[in-house]
Amino acid sequence: MGGFLGTRGDFIVDLVMTISGFLPFLLVFTFYLAAKGKYLLHKYMQIILFSIVVVLVVALEWDVQFGGLAGISDQSPYAGTIELLIVFLVHLFFAVGSFFGWLWLIVKSFKRYPKDFDFNHKKWGKILFFGIVMMAVTGWLLYWMTFAA
Ligand code: HEM
Repeated sequence: MGGFLGTRGDFIVDLVMTISGFLPFLLVFTFYLAAKGKYLLHKYMQIILFSIVVVLVVALEWDVQFGGLAGISDQSPYAGTIELLIVFLVHLFFAVGSFFGWLWLIVKSFKRYPKDFDFNHKKWGKILFFGIVMMAVTGWLLYWMTFAA
């Protein structure tokens, strides 16, 4: 199915890009909920957001390997260049780091809550936020180089 962002990307990759554009704002909203004392909502929204991201990443991986994206990336003027490789490696670094970091923070906090945290939850939450934003930004750059340029 064709995409809706006006590039060579298909529906799945365009959907993933759109949601990853909203993700930082949704995360900030969960932090706001926590700051207001709405911890349960904060907790469930974190779990839901993480689950949505997992489903999207699996869908994107399938799309790249077997679906509509297989072959399209070769049409990019950046295909096979060192620039694309560098952006890809930086993206992979933030994507893998924040995926496991996010999972770790959810599991650790889930097990402990509602007891007081015995670690700096807020500090780790903010570090992870930075990682997730970098994942989204480098993902967008990768998307632009692969499907729009
Ligand atoms: C799903 C399990 C989670 C539970 C049960 C939980 C629970 C809480 C609680 C009780 C607080 C207030 C106490 C404190 O600040 O130490 C809090 C604050 C916070 N949480 Fe979580 N959390 C969860 C997941 C996450 C994740 C995965 C992130 C980051 C991606 C995160 C980021 C934050 C931030 C930034 C604050 C501080 C908000 C503020 O006061 O400005 N939390 N959380």
